[in-house]
Amino acid sequence: MTLLPAAAGPSSVPDGPHNIAHRGASGHAPEHTFLAWDLARSMGADYLEQDLQMTADGVLVVLHDATLDRTARGPAGSCSGPVRERTLEEIRRCEVGSWFNERSPDRARSDYVGARIPTLDEVFERYGADVRYYIETKQPDEAPGMEEALLELMDRHGLTRAAEHEGRVLIQSFSPASLRLIHERNPRLPLIQLLGSDSAEVISSLDGVTEYAMGIGPSASAVTAEVVAAAKARGLLVHPYTVNEPAEMETLLELGVDGMFTDYPDRLASLLEGR
Ligand code: G3P
Ligand code: CA
Repeated sequence: MTLLPAAAGPSSVPDGPHNIAHRGASGHAPEHTFLAWDLARSMGADYLEQDLQMTADGVLVVLHDATLDRTARGPAGSCSGPVRERTLEEIRRCEVGSWFNERSPDRARSDYVGARIPTLDEVFERYGADVRYYIETKQPDEAPGMEEALLELMDRHGLTRAAEHEGRVLIQSFSPASLRLIHERNPRLPLIQLLGSDSAEVISSLDGVTEYAMGIGPSASAVTAEVVAAAKARGLLVHPYTVNEPAEMETLLELGVDGMFTDYPDRLASLLEGR
C-alpha cells in the first residue's frame, strides 16, 4: 500500500499504476453514461471518472461541460444553456448519446441514443462499492454547496470509510479552494490536485499541494522526469490526463507515474498486462 503525505491523513490506495477511465470508456461510448462506465469496467479500468455539475435545484449530475449544448439533445428549453440554470426535471428530458454517434460514426451504436445524464446518486446506487470512483468538482466556485452535497452522498452510500481506508473514492479538482474545503471537513479523504501543462508551475505548486492532497493530476504534457521526481520526493501520486496513445502511455509509465486518465482503458490495460 502507498502511504500518503502526513497532511492527507492515514488514507492509502492500492499500488498502481492505475487505469483511470476518463469519463468512462469515452473513446468507445458516450462519455459519462452507464454504457461508458460499464464498458470501462469490462475493459479492466481501476477507476471510473465522474465530473460533477449542479442543477438549479441543487442536485449533483455527472456531465463534463458547464453547459448542455455539446452533448445533450432534446427540448431546447431544457437541454441547452448552463446546467446550473436547469432543474433536474429538465435535465431528465435530455439524452446524451446521439452526439457521440454523429461525431464518431465508426463507433456509433443505436443503443447509445437515449442515454441519460445520470445523477451522482444514481451512479452510486448502480455501482455501490463494486467500483472505484474518481470524482471531480467542476467549477465549484459557481456551485456553492457542491462539496457538501458530494460528501453527504458519499456518507449516504457508505462510501466515506471506503474512501478513507481504501482510496475507493478519489476526489479531484482544479480548484485548490474546493479541495481545501473538503480537507477541512474530512482530512482523511484522498484528494488529487489537478494542474496544467507548465512543468515549472507544476513543480512550484507541489509544496502547497502536500498540505491537503495525496497526489497531482497534471496535463500529460507537463510530466517530465523532474516533475515525477519532485512529486515523489513529497510523497505525492502522479496521475496525468488525458493519455490515449500507447506510445505516450509507455513513456509516462517509464517515467514512473502512478496511473493515468484515458479515454481508452482497453489500450492501457493491454500495456499494463504486458509489463
Ligand atoms: O480530471 C482529469 C481530466 O479529466 C481533467 O480534464 O477537462 O477532461 O475534466 P477534463
Ligand atoms: Ca475530469
